[in-house]
Amino acid sequence: MSAASSHHLLRNQIADIPISQLAAKVNTPFYVYDEQKIIERINDLKAFDVVRYAQKACSNLAILDICRRNGAVVDAVSTGEILRAEAVGFSASGDPSPIVYTADIFDLSSLELVLDRGIHTNCGSPDMLTQLGQKAPGRSITLRINPGFGHGHNQKTNTGGSQSKHGIWHSELTDCLRIAEKYNLRVTGLHMHIGSGTDLEHLAQVVTAMEQAAREVGSSLDTISAGGGLPIPYQTEESYVDLEAYFQLWDAARKRLESQFGHSLRLEIEPGRYLVAEAGFLVAEIRAIKKMDENWFYLVDAGFNDLARPILYGSHHPMTIYRRSAEKTNGLREVIVGGPLCESGDIFTQKEGGFVCTRSLPEAQLGDLLIIECAGAYGAVMGSNYNSKPLAAELLVRDGQVFTIRERQTFAQMTAAEHIPD
Ligand code: LLP
Repeated sequence: MSAASSHHLLRNQIADIPISQLAAKVNTPFYVYDEQKIIERINDLKAFDVVRYAQKACSNLAILDICRRNGAVVDAVSTGEILRAEAVGFSASGDPSPIVYTADIFDLSSLELVLDRGIHTNCGSPDMLTQLGQKAPGRSITLRINPGFGHGHNQKTNTGGSQSKHGIWHSELTDCLRIAEKYNLRVTGLHMHIGSGTDLEHLAQVVTAMEQAAREVGSSLDTISAGGGLPIPYQTEESYVDLEAYFQLWDAARKRLESQFGHSLRLEIEPGRYLVAEAGFLVAEIRAIKKMDENWFYLVDAGFNDLARPILYGSHHPMTIYRRSAEKTNGLREVIVGGPLCESGDIFTQKEGGFVCTRSLPEAQLGDLLIIECAGAYGAVMGSNYNSKPLAAELLVRDGQVFTIRERQTFAQMTAAEHIPD
């Protein structure tokens, strides 16, 4: 169980397909995913009994289908995500539950769907227990516990502690067990997810908190979930979590609990980013090159409507240029990379707080392609129609062949639900 230690790259091709061939298939901007990388990442985690893909990271049906065919199950956080999982053949119930609904609230449609299909629910608030218990007493449930601390790559992705809305506060666990008892809900699972893009030090603290909470619940438990949060190296100085060490921590805790409970416990992990981030690339075309005083700008045809992570979190994504122009230059240039949107924050090279920074990239010409790497997680799924930009196309490379897994949205599709009153 080891993650690749070297940084991704590409060398202007994805899984042996030259970028030029991909760009000939579909206009820019588009996402492209390398299936093999996703499979590799699922297999990295096979020591855990269950790999439950947090599909919010990239929920294209083809990606979910890859997960299903490679032994992963899914987490769903909305009605739409449950329907996506069903659409690719995950059944509503099974052991382990092929689909788990994880949330802090039930909206009306998700409650209806969970009730109708019998979908296992990971409850993140006491109210969810009451709402489910009133309608479906006797069910098995999981409790998502907020252990009182959290950590993420950014404050906005920290999901633990008292400023976070997520989970059941750890000291409310006893009260929740009472609510569960009142409705005859059987607490069979415990779950903790302290944040996205965290590190081993913080993840290790979760193991201790989980062990403590699990002892409080007792032997009705059959599953504990480590949640997601595994980081990937977006920058060369960043690294992966030591998966072997991480698994050993969980496995040891699981074994201690098993000997207390007198039966086996299933260990789940719930990664999003780790499975898909490095498999995905956003490809855009350079449409303008301009100098503003001392600053060079490359303006491309993808914006924060396509990839929101830089404007939201100041996230760094590796970038490369694919030269389409005949004229060769060898120089590098310090550039600011921006998109087409009518908003000054539409910059891919920025730090948290909106401070623009430069990137050293090859001297490019109009028509060259910019490839934004590590864009598979929280990329396409966070796309929007801001400035009436259509959602980008998505391609998949499988066994050396290229498939369109989402067509670029058309204007008709974008406006289909809009009506002008008479
Ligand atoms: N489980 C739960 C309950 C979660 O809330 C999340 C992520 C995950 C698992 C998966 O976390 P991962 O393994 O991907 O770190 N848009 C942000 C990330 C938001 C994560 C939300 N929850 C970003 O682009 O970094």
